[in-house]
Amino acid sequence: MPSASVILDDPNLLFVNAGMVQFVPFFLGQRTPPYDRATSVQKCIRTPDIDEVGITTRHNTFFQMAGNFSFGDYFKRGAIELAWGLLTNAVSEGGYGFDPEKLWATVYLDDDEAIELWQEVAGLPLERIQRRGMADNYWSMGIPGPCGPCSEIYYDRGPEYGVDGGPEANEDRYIEIWNLVFMQNERGEGTSKDNFEILGPLPRRNIDTGMGVERIACLLQGVDNVYETDLVRPVIDKVAEYARVPYGNHSSTASDVRYRIIGDHSRTAAIIIGDGVTPGNEGRGYVLRRLLRRIIRAAKLLGVEQPIMSELMVTVRDEMGPSYPELVTDFDRIHRIAVAEETAFNRTLAAGSRLFEDAAESTRAAGKSTLSGSDAFTLHDTYGFPIDLTLEMAAEAGLSVDEEGFRGLMAEQRQRAKADAASRKQAHTDLSAYRDLVDGGPTEFTGFNELSSQATILGIFVDGVRVPVVSHGGAEGTVELILDRTPFYAESGGQIADEGAISGTGSSATAHASVTDVQKIAKTLWAHRVRVESGEFVEGDMVTAAVDPQWRRGATQGHSGTHMVHAALRQVLGPNAVQAGSLNRPGYLRFDFNYQGALSDEQRAQVEEVTNEAVQADFEVHTFNEKLEKAKAMGAMAMFGESYPDEVRVVEIGGPFSLELCGGTHVHNSAQIGPVTILGESSVGSGVRRVEAYVGLDSFRHLAKERALMAGLATSLKVPSEEVPARVATLVEKLKTAEKELDKIRLASAKAAGANAAAGAEQVGKVRLVAQRMSAGMTAGDLRSLVGDIRGKLGSEPGVVVLISEGDEGSVPYVAATNRAAQDAGLNANELIKQISSAVDGRGGGKADLAQGSGRDAAGIDRALAAVRAEIARS
Ligand code: SER
Repeated sequence: MPSASVILDDPNLLFVNAGMVQFVPFFLGQRTPPYDRATSVQKCIRTPDIDEVGITTRHNTFFQMAGNFSFGDYFKRGAIELAWGLLTNAVSEGGYGFDPEKLWATVYLDDDEAIELWQEVAGLPLERIQRRGMADNYWSMGIPGPCGPCSEIYYDRGPEYGVDGGPEANEDRYIEIWNLVFMQNERGEGTSKDNFEILGPLPRRNIDTGMGVERIACLLQGVDNVYETDLVRPVIDKVAEYARVPYGNHSSTASDVRYRIIGDHSRTAAIIIGDGVTPGNEGRGYVLRRLLRRIIRAAKLLGVEQPIMSELMVTVRDEMGPSYPELVTDFDRIHRIAVAEETAFNRTLAAGSRLFEDAAESTRAAGKSTLSGSDAFTLHDTYGFPIDLTLEMAAEAGLSVDEEGFRGLMAEQRQRAKADAASRKQAHTDLSAYRDLVDGGPTEFTGFNELSSQATILGIFVDGVRVPVVSHGGAEGTVELILDRTPFYAESGGQIADEGAISGTGSSATAHASVTDVQKIAKTLWAHRVRVESGEFVEGDMVTAAVDPQWRRGATQGHSGTHMVHAALRQVLGPNAVQAGSLNRPGYLRFDFNYQGALSDEQRAQVEEVTNEAVQADFEVHTFNEKLEKAKAMGAMAMFGESYPDEVRVVEIGGPFSLELCGGTHVHNSAQIGPVTILGESSVGSGVRRVEAYVGLDSFRHLAKERALMAGLATSLKVPSEEVPARVATLVEKLKTAEKELDKIRLASAKAAGANAAAGAEQVGKVRLVAQRMSAGMTAGDLRSLVGDIRGKLGSEPGVVVLISEGDEGSVPYVAATNRAAQDAGLNANELIKQISSAVDGRGGGKADLAQGSGRDAAGIDRALAAVRAEIARS
């Protein structure tokens, strides 16, 4: 099987660290292997030992693992036979020809079976087999997955490499070359190599072996350490061409360690980039960044003065390309990314190193041995030093670092950045990251003359952190591209930023990003906020920056329209209508100005008229630069409270009609603005008014919509549009008359009803009673005015009137009245209302002579009337 990528789709595994990783599903029984056996040479990345690199003779962050695998096929015996055969068979027989006397084996504590097999198959004497514990001889990937006891094969390099006593005594003299894992269990979570839960046996017993290609090469080539094998040494030799200090092959000297760090890390970096990682501040991207920066710093310390990354990548490609063709086919990209990181880091390294020296010096002078967290933070924040670099430099200087303090400050900064980004569009309060670029001079704005410009990427930022490269899908957060020149207008002076796209050219032609916002940093640097739609952008790339022409046309209309409305307002309202703010974008503008009181309809109409006349006059738009004083003397309007440079840009439309200091983009002739429609005028605080308007096509569309509305009305009213207002006025008039008419009729009919009711009075005992259901729709008010009438008609004998109706919306209004004689006889309207209320589910009350209520159950009306009669009969 060919090597898998070093990045497999497992969030728990930073990098592929063993040949077996691509076979995990087979071991776990999740997938049926299409073959029972396999062999591979796998690219492996192991960075936990990064600090050992160059110091020991055998540690690499990148190495190749040759392995053979059995999926339920051969087991311990087979694995031992195969490994022993390859190691000890003569070269003529296809083996490596190692002297069997020099080989040792280790086994897991209680693995007697393996001990017996080593004796039987290989003839290894018992004294060259050692038992070791879980940390050494029980293998897992370090995360949940397959695991098992293992047996390792060591080669004795002889007494010049240290004391005897086997691997247990010295792993530099006895160098591990091959690990045979008897893969038979599944592990769960755990905290270390020898502390994890074993969940149970795997469905089948498997074999996973791994042989270190670099270590075997080291032995076969008779060199002292893995860095001098024919794959790494050429990188070291390349560095030596530029370094002041030669490579001396003395394991312990600092300079040799630096050479080896470069040799090791260059290969690792090329492989990781080749498999798709770009430098970043987290996870794999951070590992890559750290490797690249360690290379750069090591080279500096060796006295390499010029950039060297390019040469290193070429060397790695030439040496490793034959085994890993992706290093050749993808070389341009790998090269670009590595070199861009070097360029970015070099810029800050010098300044940062000086700061570090100063900080170290004053730490020592204060009699302390710990570099403060805030120094480490400044190095990170301002100079882009990864904390590990600071830790290393501190260690070299005999100091430690207050890491906790550093992390605290980092957390605070992240918090601040989040809050800042959320609350402000221009999240550029922390400018330190941009300082280099700001110092390098302003962005050239080409957008007055052209809409598309060739430019170079000077810097790339993700959430305000400088990165060498950004790719589609590669970065979460706000991505900004800083270019040396740009046609994009950055938001300022009320005009919002241009929209458009930035695309790669040449070898990065697939790179494409849409520009979502453009903000100025320190007033001089244009930061293009982009969404990377495809490909990747690398610092130093040539790109084409192109503003969407339609957008820009709209933007110029909006901004010139604002000047016209401003001029018109001053003409109509007088010079006290001073600008207080503005905002314009394609199709829309809003203008705030100081003025007491609302504009009358007439003033509004006038402003609109003056504006559109000036548009129609087709004034030429002149822009020119002028000394500030002179421009002001000419009467150019400036924003109060705004600071202007000595030389300012003046925009003149129609000579004295409109003269403003302005950096915005404008139409060439006022007629290009198109119609301006004022939407409304409102207050935005005391003494500040706001007009809003549509401009150009949007203005037309707004008017078209209103016309359609009017046409709809005309159709409904069946008159031509121009008669709609008169028609509506007539209708309103008619409606009023009709309502009055209706009131009259209601009153008349109520009167008639009252007369009828009085005539229908019944005699209950001594009482003349009118207890009636009235016609539906009568309100409580109607009933109240009727009840009095009827009572008056009943004469001086005891009289009682009870009226109930079915009112609107299911209500049941009712009224009761008694005359004096009835009250004297003990009859009380309020008491009667209680009877009615209980019958119609209502509430009510009043006095002895008049009471009323309202119920909800019309079905109870007859019962209520019967209850009233019964009550009166009882009295
Ligand atoms: N997986 C084992 C190791 O990495 C053997 O390949 O050592």
